[in-house]
Parts: sequence; C-alpha cells; structure tokens
Amino acid sequence: MKFSIIGAGNIGSALAFGLAHSGLVRPEEICISNTHSEKLERISKKEPLIRTTTDNKVCIDGADVVVLAVKPWKLAPLAEQLKEMLDYKTQIVASMVGGVGLADLQTLFRRDSDGALPPIYYLIPNTAIATRQSMTFLSSVGATKQQDEQLLAIFKTLGDAMLVEERLMNAGLVLASCGIAYALRYIRANTQGGVLLGFSPADAQRIVSQTMKGAASLLGIDGSHPESEIDRVTTPAGLTIRGLNAMERNGFTTSIIEGLMASIPSGK
Ligand SMILES: NC(=O)c1ccc[n+]([C@@H]2O[C@H](COP(=O)([O-])OP(=O)(O)OC[C@H]3O[C@@H](n4cnc5c(N)ncnc54)[C@H](OP(=O)(O)O)[C@@H]3O)[C@@H](O)[C@H]2O)c1
Repeated sequence: MKFSIIGAGNIGSALAFGLAHSGLVRPEEICISNTHSEKLERISKKEPLIRTTTDNKVCIDGADVVVLAVKPWKLAPLAEQLKEMLDYKTQIVASMVGGVGLADLQTLFRRDSDGALPPIYYLIPNTAIATRQSMTFLSSVGATKQQDEQLLAIFKTLGDAMLVEERLMNAGLVLASCGIAYALRYIRANTQGGVLLGFSPADAQRIVSQTMKGAASLLGIDGSHPESEIDRVTTPAGLTIRGLNAMERNGFTTSIIEGLMASIPSGK
C-alpha cells in the first residue's frame, strides 16, 4: 500500500518513520508533504528513501491511503483543497486529527460536484508510534472489510491496533493517548522514589523503565491477569503487600480511575 502523509509535524513524521520500518510498506512507497520545507529536510536526512514535497498534489498522486496529520483548525482548508484532487474510487482518506469524527470528515470531504465520498478512517495513534509501540484505534465509514483488514495489519506493525466502533474512540484516546502521559507520570513518581532509596536519577529511571516493560510483558504470557502476577510477588505478611496497602490507602486505584474519567471529552 502506498501512503501519502499530509503534515510533517510530530505525529506525521513519526508515522512516516514507523511505516518505513514496518516491513509492510517500503520507504519509497511513502510520501510526506508539509507547508514549509525545514521539517521535510530533517526527514530526508534521517530516512532518504521517504519521498518529501511541499506540494500536496504531488504527494497524493498514486497513493492508496492519504493520511491527514495537521492541526484541527487546518483541516477544513486542507479538505477543500484535496477533495477535488482525490480519486474516491481508489484512494482512502485517513485522518489522525484529534476530535474530528467520521460524520464531520464526511461533511468536509463530500464532493460538491456529485456528492461522492471516499472510504474514510478516523485514526487515533499515540506518540509511541515513533518507536513502533503505538496503541492505535481505527474507526471507518464507507470502507470495505478488506481495507479494514489491510490497514489494521499495517498499524499492528506499529505497535498494536484495534478497529472499534466510533463511540469508543474517545475512550481509546483517553486510555492510550492521554495514557502515555499517565504511564510516564507513574514512571516519574517511581523514579523519584528510587532516588530516595539511593539510586542516581539515571539509574532509577533505567530500573523503573525496565520494570514497567517487564510487568507489561508478563501480561502477554497466556493472557495472564494483573492480579495473578501481583499474587506471585506478594508473600503473605511480606514487603509487597505492605507497599500495596500504603499505596491504596493513599488512593492509588481511585485516583487513576478518576483521572481517566476526568479526561473524557465533555458531552461523550
Ligand atoms: N501529537 C500527538 O500526540 C497526537 C496523537 C494523535 C493525533 N494527533 C493529531 O495529529 C494532528 C497533528 O498533530 P502534531 O502534533 O503532529 O502537529 P504539528 O507538529 O503542528 O504538525 C502539523 C504539520 O502540518 C503541517 N501543515 C499544516 N497545514 C498543512 C497543509 N495544508 N499541507 C501540508 N502540511 C500542512 C504543518 O506545517 P508548518 O508547521 O510548516 O506550517 C505542521 O508541520 C493533530 O490534529 C492532532 O490532533 C496528535
């Protein structure tokens, strides 16, 4: 599948690098465009085979998937420009623009001349797409089952990906995109604790990061439940249960759930 990415900012460039190493898309099958050329020059330095241009028309030419990675307020003029240039029979529009759902995308991309619409995807990756460890949510309208499966397979190579009903996209955003910040805040708090316990900040961060990776990896084994892995390290009357109790007394689980609920966009 050939990808065209419009917008070479944080998420657009991270997607380009991730796709280039996905094994399913060759770097020369990716074109990325941006209004100004500086960001494109940085991409070319790092990944010379990715095609770059400041001309969106050149970028979308021959693409199977046109990914939109611009800020929300730049989307309407971009849609206006693209909708007369795209071939809706062969090209998919995939928007990563946060907060703009499928109905809004259909309104933006409905062609004035004949009312036609392309297959449309609303994608929510997180910033770990740069390291091919994103949790990406996809929701689509007007797409075929085969297109769903193809895109899902590609985004799975960039971490993990889930095709969900649109009503779950905001929940996915909170759990996985805001979730990156929550997980990192946990790592930071633990690192500070590690310094108090006597490690240098760098060593404490290294220890905590590896412990997080290890904990997550344990859940991959036979679909293990967190509580059964917790039981394995919780000796009766031992150290871990004392720590867990102290954390819960201070509202550990409640504060995380309340944080998640507070993040849900209002009205959803
Ligand atoms: N960052 C995240 O964690 C994240 C995660 C998921 C989704 N998103 C979504 O991804 C979108 C982009 O976020 P970002 O953080 O990557 O923003 P960003 O760093 O500002 O990147 C957007 C880029 O789009 C370029 N651009 C704007 N209009 C254009 C046009 N008409 N044609 C070509 N290029 C154009 C801008 O170029 P110039 O700067 O040169 O004008 C800029 O480099 C947002 O809508 C956000 O909701 C972000």
